[in-house]
Amino acid sequence: MTQTKQTPEARTPEAPKHPVANGPKKRQRPVIAIDGPAGAGKSTLAAHLARRFGFLNLETGAMYRALALKAIENDYAFDEEAPLMDLAARTRITLQPQLEGNRVLLDTIDVSRRIREADVTSAASKISIHPRLRAWMVQQQRALGEAGGVVMEGRDIGTAVFPDAEVKIFLDAAPEVRGNRRYRQATPESIAANNPNAPQNADRQAPDPLTAEQQRLAEQAVIRELKERDYRDRHRAESPLQPAADAVILDSTAMTLDEVLARAEEIVRSHLPREAS
Ligand code: DC
Repeated sequence: MTQTKQTPEARTPEAPKHPVANGPKKRQRPVIAIDGPAGAGKSTLAAHLARRFGFLNLETGAMYRALALKAIENDYAFDEEAPLMDLAARTRITLQPQLEGNRVLLDTIDVSRRIREADVTSAASKISIHPRLRAWMVQQQRALGEAGGVVMEGRDIGTAVFPDAEVKIFLDAAPEVRGNRRYRQATPESIAANNPNAPQNADRQAPDPLTAEQQRLAEQAVIRELKERDYRDRHRAESPLQPAADAVILDSTAMTLDEVLARAEEIVRSHLPREAS
């Protein structure tokens, strides 16, 4: 089912405006910021909280992914900001919040599945280091969330996009635990596609099952890739991934999903006036 109250759209850049600089908050409804490293479970948590409190969930990582896909398709280098900014100016990214996550349109084409593939994941992390490109994204994300009633998920929501968010949760977990969760979520096809040693069966669509050793290597590859992304996200000069000073840190390393969801609901309730929760 689609939540149709609004269809946020991200489009061409204008001069960045800062919500805090305009004086006191004018939002009628709250912004819930969920930040944290890759694989911490932010999307699952954001979708759950949005359903629970009747808000829209917005996955900002999908916007970086969509632009990265366009860069791949047009053969742009990921390390040159000026051409990427030109590309951004000619790009329209639309997030359509659904109950389970965001449908993502890149210039009207549905790229929701394609942007989750490994090449786009890596490219999104690389293009996200550029300061002007980040400013472009942040400006769009503020416009999407300015009315409130949103759960916005990313790396810099509580620090840069909505430093005045009513609720800030920084969801973390040990890299091995995040990598293991990511690996277990992956489809056999995507694991085989990223594993050149996996035997391919020419007669059938599905790849042969991996041996225990191949599974171990594939899981290690996921953890390695995740640590590389963590490093880039945490060490970039512009808005590096870090908890806002006033964020509640939720470390899910030793928690079940149900425990994380319940704790996050408690955090939201404790920060919002009764009528909002
Ligand atoms: O959350 P995700 O894995 O879909 O994000 C993809 C990449 O986009 C991630 O490696 C870093 C970047 N990103 C960011 O820099 N800031 C955000 N608010 C969201 C994502």
